[in-house]
Amino acid sequence: MSPSGAGSLILILSAVLLLSSATITSAFNITILLGRYPGFEQFNQLLSRTQLAEEINRRRTITVLGLPNDRLATIMQMTEDVQKSILSLHIVLDYYDMIKFNKLAPASKTTLTTLYQSSGVANDKQGFIDVVHRRDGTIVFGSSMPGAPLVSALVNSVASQPFNISVLSVSQPIIAPGMDGSWVEPAAPPPPPKAAAPVPAVKEPPPPEAEEPVADEPTADAPAPSPADAPAPAPSPAADAPAEDEAGEDASDQDPEENKKKSAAVKQVVSGMTVGLVIGLASFLAGQ
Ligand SMILES: *[C@@H]1O[C@H](CO)[C@@H](O)[C@H](O)[C@H]1NC(C)=O
Ligand SMILES: *[C@@H]1O[C@H](CO)[C@@H](O)[C@H](O)[C@H]1NC(C)=O
Repeated sequence: MSPSGAGSLILILSAVLLLSSATITSAFNITILLGRYPGFEQFNQLLSRTQLAEEINRRRTITVLGLPNDRLATIMQMTEDVQKSILSLHIVLDYYDMIKFNKLAPASKTTLTTLYQSSGVANDKQGFIDVVHRRDGTIVFGSSMPGAPLVSALVNSVASQPFNISVLSVSQPIIAPGMDGSWVEPAAPPPPPKAAAPVPAVKEPPPPEAEEPVADEPTADAPAPSPADAPAPAPSPAADAPAEDEAGEDASDQDPEENKKKSAAVKQVVSGMTVGLVIGLASFLAGQ
């Protein structure tokens, strides 16, 4: 064999080795897997942004309790650190699919270890979740912390590669008391974690229509919590505001002041003002 022939053989061999080691190290790719299922785009983005996707891909045996886009509102308002903690509580370090959950003995509680437990920052039982197969057949999850409620129901299976990765859909985020900084130490009655979820940060001081133009503050507030490169999915509130602002600015050369003057003038006319004012108004209007 010629030297160059041997060289290419070595190249080919090492290419084969590289390829096979690549397939060995990543048995699956959660980003690609979830990407096939519409409705989980935000959850998928969160997994990537918090680097949890890489952690999932490193595992051999894992279950992801996925949250559909419309169940993430509470989490989207939190800081990325808290998001990562909460999402890692949805990653179970074992393989569970629908069949396995349904085989759990009715009304008994099973404790599952999550990725949050392996993060090293979990206190008490924060890193564990309980699952209960209720007698009515529903399967519900909650934090294993004392007093924490079973808040989240298993909805259905999204994807699975037995017995390595299972992705399931659940109805609500599972949040361990204390994860979001709202909880301090045991002894206290359980905090309000779940109940207040739906519409917390909608503090809009509804200003009367008249004063709206200088509404830069709501605009600045709205996007602040989410990173600048956040995708578009939640634009509705923010997008509306700027639109109004721009419109207001464009038309502002004339509008607010002039309109006030006009209506004031009209009122005065109606209340029987002098001809001079009428003339003044006429010339004023003509001047525009
Ligand atoms: C998984 O897929 C995403 C998107 O294609 C890619 O960016 C990432 O590097 C992949 N991760 C692994 C471990 O292959
Ligand atoms: C799937 O999991 C089993 C045991 O958990 C492991 O031995 C196997 O290597 C995994 N398969 C892949 C493709 O990683």
